[in-house]
Amino acid sequence: MDWTEWQQRWDAQQQAYLPDREERFTAVLDAVEAACGRAPRVLDLAGGTGSITRRVLARFPASTSVVLDVDAALLAIARGTFDGDPRVRVCSADLATQPPAGSNSWVSLAAASTPCSPPPPCTG
Ligand SMILES: C[S@@+](CC[C@H](N)C(=O)[O-])C[C@H]1O[C@@H](n2cnc3c(N)ncnc32)[C@H](O)[C@@H]1O
Repeated sequence: MDWTEWQQRWDAQQQAYLPDREERFTAVLDAVEAACGRAPRVLDLAGGTGSITRRVLARFPASTSVVLDVDAALLAIARGTFDGDPRVRVCSADLATQPPAGSNSWVSLAAASTPCSPPPPCTG
């Protein structure tokens, strides 16, 4: 499976809904860097295929990320994309019923987040 192609197709589809999506990602990562430096621990809530996490790793190679989402198809793309990368964990969880443990102590920045406590338990 060509996971890069699937990622690109997801990004193209999302970009159609949100033309300034890339600029928003850059602004989010600027905020992450200002708050946490260049080796952030990121919680990519509702992370889908891991679009934000890919950009986090490209900009901050020393970062780590947990991608959390409920959609099995998007999670499959995320798992394929980050397979073998020890910096990334991909978790299946429904935020409506399974908020991350200690969620009130996580700092959230528009789906790119920096954890202030251990990551949530993985259910899948
Ligand atoms: C517009 S997409 C954004 C995905 C990704 N952050 C991105 O920028 O490409 C919204 C995401 O929220 C996820 N989502 C919606 N409801 C959710 C829930 N209750 N728990 C976890 N994820 C959820 C969807 O599966 C989808 O991946």
